Amino acid sequence: MTSLRITDVHVEGFRNLHGVAITPAPGANVLLGSNGEGKTSVLEAIDYAASLRSFRGATRSQLVGHGAKAAEVLLRMAGPLVERTYRARVTRNGREITLDGKRPERAVEYFSGAACVVFHPGDLDLVRGAPELRRRLLDRILVRTVDGYGEALKSYAKALRARNALLREKHPNAKAIQAFDFPLGRHGSALVRARMALVADLLPAAQRAFDEVALRADGIVLKYVPRAPGDQVAFTAAVAENLPRDLARRSTLLGPHADDLSITWSGIPAKVVASQGQTRALALALRLAELHVLEQRTRVVPVLLLDDVSSELDRERTARLFALVETLGAQVFATTTDPAIADLLPGAARFRVHAGSVAPMP
Ligand SMILES: Nc1ncnc2c1ncn2[C@@H]1O[C@H](COP(=O)(O)OP(=O)(O)OP(=O)(O)O)[C@@H](O)[C@H]1O
Ligand SMILES: [Mg+2]
Repeated sequence: MTSLRITDVHVEGFRNLHGVAITPAPGANVLLGSNGEGKTSVLEAIDYAASLRSFRGATRSQLVGHGAKAAEVLLRMAGPLVERTYRARVTRNGREITLDGKRPERAVEYFSGAACVVFHPGDLDLVRGAPELRRRLLDRILVRTVDGYGEALKSYAKALRARNALLREKHPNAKAIQAFDFPLGRHGSALVRARMALVADLLPAAQRAFDEVALRADGIVLKYVPRAPGDQVAFTAAVAENLPRDLARRSTLLGPHADDLSITWSGIPAKVVASQGQTRALALALRLAELHVLEQRTRVVPVLLLDDVSSELDRERTARLFALVETLGAQVFATTTDPAIADLLPGAARFRVHAGSVAPMP
């Protein structure tokens, strides 16, 4: 199995970062620095260049450094066959991306080869937060691993917007609304099928990871329970039959846009029973499962970005996580404020992050 390796990182004007030019090690890399120096921003910049999204949910203008015109990130990544150069330039009004110096025709062409998996403090919301975050986790994997998924997602969203607009009209026209049942059924059922197959793959990987990091896996279950089924005909029929309720609520109620990935522990929703630490371990297990499934499906090990895990896990669990990480064969970037945590990754290359710059440590 080959692993994706970032061989060069250049960042300029991204949040507080400036003049960053580092050559990471192929294995583990630790970014050390005090609060507010720019550690998370380095991971965010790397992931942004690979996925074209901020894992902190930031808008473009939040990413551009105060006083800078644009935020620029350049990554060189060695994949199974070739080395490629990813460049993203973000201004307050837009974004430009190039792959090996050329503008890609479709965004998916750009990011499908550049998989990063990120674990960060906001991931607690994967367990506790709104269903949208869990749907986003599934979609993030599926756009990279299922041909046509991204297009189906777009076509579905377009049909949904149009149908919902009609439902909100003063005198909704049932015939016009029903015209969208077919495209919703076609794309929506495809999304449901892909998500169900994915959750079946994620489940054993999440159970294993949770077992290894949190020391127990008793009864963790992930389930995707669709509101409208994965069979196209049945999906379309379910949406059609729901029209009276949709009219009453002025919105399309059934479909993958409203589905959730349920996480239960001994039959009880994890958000209700899991302790703070267990919630973190569970979120981490979901991320490790993401890594595992990406690896299984693309035959390439993604890059793993771990933001501040030691504030998330106790020392024993951090040590177990790092031990586990070493067996994955992934290139890793881990941030911490604590040099003792860096010692838990003995072979790692160390970088000091200070006031927005990054320098290798002796
Ligand atoms: N658009 C921006 N332009 C300039 N500076 C910014 C911008 N957005 C955020 N910052 C600042 O960048 C600094 C680095 O933030 P970052 O979250 O990367 O720090 P950190 O090293 O991860 O800190 P912590 O240890 O507290 O997590 C902070 O001082 C933050 O206020
Ligand atoms: Mg941080």
